[in-house]
Amino acid sequence: KILILDFGSQYTQLIARRVRELNVYCEIHPYNKIPPISPKVKGVILSGSPCSVRDADHPNPYLGNILGHMPVLGVCYGAQLLAHEQGGEVLPSTIREYGRARLSEVHGSDKLMKEITIGSTVWMSHGDTIKEIPDNFEILASTENVKVAAYKIQDEETYGIQFHPEVTHSAEGKTLLRNFVVHICGCSQDWTPDQFVQSTVDDLKSQLGNDKVILGLSGGVDSSVAAMLIHQAIGPNLHCIFVDNGLLRKDEFESVLDSYMHMGLNVKGVDAKQRFYDALAGLSDPEAKRKAIGKTFIDVFDAEAHGIENAKWLAQGTIYPDVIESVSVNGPSVTIKSHHNVGGLPDYMKLKVVEPLKTLFKDEVRLVGKTLHIDENILNRHPFPGPGLAIRILGDITPDKVAILQEVDHVFISNLKKSGLYNEVWQAGAMLLPVQSVGVMGDERTYERVVALRAVTSVDGMTADWAHLPYDFLADVSNEIINKVKGVNRVVYDISSKPPATIEWE
Ligand code: XMP
Repeated sequence: KILILDFGSQYTQLIARRVRELNVYCEIHPYNKIPPISPKVKGVILSGSPCSVRDADHPNPYLGNILGHMPVLGVCYGAQLLAHEQGGEVLPSTIREYGRARLSEVHGSDKLMKEITIGSTVWMSHGDTIKEIPDNFEILASTENVKVAAYKIQDEETYGIQFHPEVTHSAEGKTLLRNFVVHICGCSQDWTPDQFVQSTVDDLKSQLGNDKVILGLSGGVDSSVAAMLIHQAIGPNLHCIFVDNGLLRKDEFESVLDSYMHMGLNVKGVDAKQRFYDALAGLSDPEAKRKAIGKTFIDVFDAEAHGIENAKWLAQGTIYPDVIESVSVNGPSVTIKSHHNVGGLPDYMKLKVVEPLKTLFKDEVRLVGKTLHIDENILNRHPFPGPGLAIRILGDITPDKVAILQEVDHVFISNLKKSGLYNEVWQAGAMLLPVQSVGVMGDERTYERVVALRAVTSVDGMTADWAHLPYDFLADVSNEIINKVKGVNRVVYDISSKPPATIEWE
């Protein structure tokens, strides 16, 4: 495997993505928490950073047991750090060096530069530049403005590059990364979804033995793929619980439960609609609603879990972005994102946690799901918030409001699917507003509800743009909603980006 040391660059995760696209396994670790270097580590990549090696307290970990012992590739800050440490000179850039540049010279026949061509576009993003390299460094490539665009330390496999090969704008970036991980580090490209399934199932078999495992299914990709992996390892000893909180999409509980049964899962569907509605009665504040739903979920799940005697493990669909420790930009402190799909179970349950997806990115989870023949319907599903429609009904929740919103949402989503637009947007849904407006239907004056449609494009939900859906499509959906859904006489479309708006309205 490849180790990526994160110095806080916004591109660190992209390096990992690119390496994995080469079917080579890699892990990201903060620069100040380098794990023990096992023989499995074939090479190390040092990421970029918002810091400067000219700052007095710049990140500068001890790399003595890595440098010279195995191949190292410094990217941007990583390259500057290595040069600086060995007596080179790093200075602020005098010319703007953000964006596209072209390689004007590619020197020598070094393995790193194999098939990298003169004129090739590279992506630059740096405030400092390497002005002087130490005597034992050789330059491998330059651009018009950056003489030291790539270098190698003589007699060792230590490299530095000033541009960002992980960004797709670097045309031959992937070739360069392949040269490093395959030709220089000697990694075999055998980390595929099939191989992942095989080795994970084997590991789960020996980890879990004959123990019973409990898993909460949500209908989403992560919990479903986690369930199938564990199911392949231990069959009916995996006890899945799927709770109907009365806040899911129209007919979703039944159809998803049906899919799960077809997949052969040992799953129990629990109808807890009324408990959730009771807990939500009279609550309008979004956070109060979230709390009530979270607490009710734990109560329901806990009661069901107690019905499964001698359960030893709780399985969760945690994925890699949830566990990566991100390096904070404001100094070397480390912040940890933690996330639990099941949301903090009571301590007394004393279950050990098993998380078979915690090394995968979302799209890798989908590829694994495909290998496991999980229904496309589940794999390509839009994200859906845990509190469900409760945070899309502004104000208090009643079963009637849920029923109206389910119909509206159903018209919107099924039209997106029919028009082939569903997979073009990242997430879509409808909000029921606490507003009534005047309308006219036939000869009648109406005074009914307003719904807002929301569809966004996004990569990870952190930022999002409103989806520019075709006017004709919106016109058809609006017509169908107003004609079919009793109680709604006006449809509006949300054209706000995140930030400053959020995806959900609550
Ligand atoms: P926002 O509204 O913050 O949403 O832009 C970003 C993503 O998170 C989802 N979301 C939630 N998911 N519990 C969840 O499990 C919640 O309370 C919650 N609130 C928002 C939202 O649907 C979007 O995908």
